[in-house]
Amino acid sequence: KRILFAASEGNPFIKTGGLADVVGALPKYLDKEKFDVRVFLPKYLCISEDCRQKMKYVTEIYADMPREKEYIGIYEAKIEGIHYYFIDNEHYFAGNSPYNQIFEDVNKFAFYCRAVLTCLPELGFCPDIIHCHDWQAALIPVFLDAFYRENPFYRNIQTIMTIHNQKFQGRWRIDDIENCRDLPASYRYGAMEAYGETNFLKAGILHADRVTTVSETYAKEIQDPTGGEGLDGVMREVSGKLSGIVNGIDTEEYDPMTDPEIAVNFNQKTIAKKKKNKEALQAALRLRKDSSAMVLGIVSRLTQQKGFDLVRSVMEEMLNTLNIQIVVLGTGEEQFQDFFRHFDWKYPDRVSATIGYSEEIAHMIYGGADAFLMPSQFEPCGLSQLISMRYGTIPIVRETGGLKDTVEPYNGIWHTGNGFSFANYHAGEMLMIVRYAYDIFCNHPKDWRGMMKRCMEMDNSWQNSAKKYEKLYQELS
Ligand code: ADP
Ligand code: GLC
Repeated sequence: KRILFAASEGNPFIKTGGLADVVGALPKYLDKEKFDVRVFLPKYLCISEDCRQKMKYVTEIYADMPREKEYIGIYEAKIEGIHYYFIDNEHYFAGNSPYNQIFEDVNKFAFYCRAVLTCLPELGFCPDIIHCHDWQAALIPVFLDAFYRENPFYRNIQTIMTIHNQKFQGRWRIDDIENCRDLPASYRYGAMEAYGETNFLKAGILHADRVTTVSETYAKEIQDPTGGEGLDGVMREVSGKLSGIVNGIDTEEYDPMTDPEIAVNFNQKTIAKKKKNKEALQAALRLRKDSSAMVLGIVSRLTQQKGFDLVRSVMEEMLNTLNIQIVVLGTGEEQFQDFFRHFDWKYPDRVSATIGYSEEIAHMIYGGADAFLMPSQFEPCGLSQLISMRYGTIPIVRETGGLKDTVEPYNGIWHTGNGFSFANYHAGEMLMIVRYAYDIFCNHPKDWRGMMKRCMEMDNSWQNSAKKYEKLYQELS
């Protein structure tokens, strides 16, 4: 079967979050005998020069679009057996980040969706299934139904819509989106409309043959008013075609045994070596060299979703009552950047905040921290906790979405579990669980090591989940 992946980011070319990890890894784990997978990404100007070098020009077409005849350049690259195509048009894909202002983004990704569909005959690639990721690719099923089905080339293509984050829906005033202007009113004011605005994700969900999201718990949460981000009614309506498939991680990229970014490589049999990575992390970030301090890592987009207002409420208390060190790597909202910067200034030898994006520091934190803090308000799946576990870094999480499905709370009687978790979105509860983790770390080191080992032995690879996607692809024909 031929599968087309459509997404706005993908490793190793362009990444702002977990979506890129999924798009970069899942195709590698699908059975190559059965599936010919090709990944279509925008050719952003901000893709690194290194990655651009790997792309080759294929062809260009000039397509009728509402604005004018528009250029669609096609480039390709083959990396680790995966065939990538890049859609070029600098009118849309300039800018120093894949995402800019929402009013530009809606038009940009409407263009992207049309361009992907338009270039297929030219490439001679007729997919059986188009697998669309998040709102940026959500208009593909819509344009397909509105404009392309009449052409026999497109008639039998089926579509899957995967929701990585229901919060982002692609909402704007319909009349202001040039590349949607020619859609029939029955679309513009039908499936595409929600609360008086156009809503890309909603339209994609309604037009797709199947809808998936990235964990079973999140699949339930989005059908509920508290987790549905306004679309819970739609999600209940489509519950018959909705399922949750938990993400895996790229176990080659995140492998403590071979990772070149960490000071000392180790595995579950040589867990004791991990402390060298903690020392290296403390040295690199100029933290106090202190093996008895519990180092709490955070690698994250700094947004409301990730629960940093809880951390902010109890930060002072955590630092004053526990011998912990906090290491943060992230970018995002000013309020959280400033908060972490402030504590970095106030406690230079116990708090380190790197405001920015760095694969290198991310790996150092996963490899060197004792625990990983992720108190998300909501979390469709979450990859950071899975990456942490692979490096024997114990996750401390809130029980929501994929965090609930992947972190089993520690049980000191049965010696089970691979992390710590709390239920309610409440700073006091979070603090209590951090204290509990700290107590185990300090006073029950054998239990802590047992938990590290259980984390490292978990199978969070893509193997199992890729099978579920394969089954879904097989069902759709
Ligand atoms: P989300 O997709 O919501 O951001 P995930 O946990 O699914 O959350 O994935 C986040 C991914 O992005 C992980 O691979 C994490 O290591 C990476 N990441 C997030 N922020 C940074 C950063 N500032 N520098 C490097 N990697 C980051
Ligand atoms: C989104 C979610 C995150 C998920 C990722 C990949 O960014 O916020 O929870 O892991 O997509 O599916």
